Amino acid sequence: MSVVLSKLAGLIGDSPTLKINARARALKAAGQPVIHLGGGEPTYPAPLSAVKAIIAQAESRKIKYSPSSGTPALKEAVLNYTKQFYGRSYEPSQVLISAGAKQALFNFLLAAVDAGDEVVFPAPYWVSYPEMIKMAGGKPVAVLPARDLQVTAQELLAAVTPKTKAILLNSPCNPSGQIYSEEFIKTVVEFAEQKNIFLVMDDIYHQLVFDGNTVPNPAAYAKEGKNLVIINGVSKLYGLTGLRIGWAVCAYKELIAAMGRMQAQSTSCNSDLSETAAAAALNGDQSCVTELRKMLEENRNTLLAELAKIPHVRVAKPAGTFYSFADFSHYNASSEELAQYLLDKALVAVVSVWRGRVLAHQFLCG
Ligand SMILES: Cc1ncc(COP(=O)(O)O)c(C=O)c1O
Repeated sequence: MSVVLSKLAGLIGDSPTLKINARARALKAAGQPVIHLGGGEPTYPAPLSAVKAIIAQAESRKIKYSPSSGTPALKEAVLNYTKQFYGRSYEPSQVLISAGAKQALFNFLLAAVDAGDEVVFPAPYWVSYPEMIKMAGGKPVAVLPARDLQVTAQELLAAVTPKTKAILLNSPCNPSGQIYSEEFIKTVVEFAEQKNIFLVMDDIYHQLVFDGNTVPNPAAYAKEGKNLVIINGVSKLYGLTGLRIGWAVCAYKELIAAMGRMQAQSTSCNSDLSETAAAAALNGDQSCVTELRKMLEENRNTLLAELAKIPHVRVAKPAGTFYSFADFSHYNASSEELAQYLLDKALVAVVSVWRGRVLAHQFLCG
């Protein structure tokens, strides 16, 4: 007989992305020619600025604990980045550096959500959102669009109740690649302020947009900015997924401080080496971002052209990210079964995302 595990342990599912990555890796290690379209990371090599900074610090032989909320140098780099892309100045006490955007988001949930509080987000969504919200004791409320792949502001806001603590948006969106319009963002930012709930912008892909477009700036519509939490990181922007560096920025210092306490009592601090490298990437030559964007756009075009050759597969053109959200429902009514079939029969690793609607989630630059 085994010791009974917590209720939470029973409630939280595996990350489908990490699961498919592990299977694909195992098959590859066994010599199978797997085409890996299942992971959420650009194959792009790390920027040299980051690599050189890591080497220099490692050679100094000083690899120690760092300040829990982030080094002053990285905070400054993040604040400069935020000023440049959001047009708003924040102070070091309004930013928290974490082990990836994922931990930043998790810290937010722990600091803001009480048992039973609702967190509203549009479907399709990043597969981790519901599990992370549940881990914090909250109730995930996914809002399905009546048509196409994108909810309207009216559909989203109709799901907000007195129990709603936060709205969570990801634009461009993993997995659909779609971008919310200026009007949509303005409406949601103003609504969150009016109702005094948080609006969390998961902006991890905000520079990876195609066809010369840019994403709307939520900070342009926030007054005081205490309800707006901006989450970002170096994982997707520079292909630096292995550093595990992300951040949260918010004008509400008490929120950032509470999130910092969650972090201090869990991971203590971030990796010192990673923080140095992330600061160097942010302060270094940004032509790598332009190159990455160009490569992803070309890959998107290739993938769309190839998918168009398969009869009965439908896919909306991704406006950004490195995902496409192809609808194979003509062939199989379960996205899990479809992902399994593609891996077993064709050695193509994809992630199943939208249960019941049979859509496959694909990585464009594998
Ligand atoms: C929408 C979204 N947010 C956050 C993350 C996590 O990023 P990080 O590597 O910074 O934790 C991912 C990674 O796939 C993502 O797709």
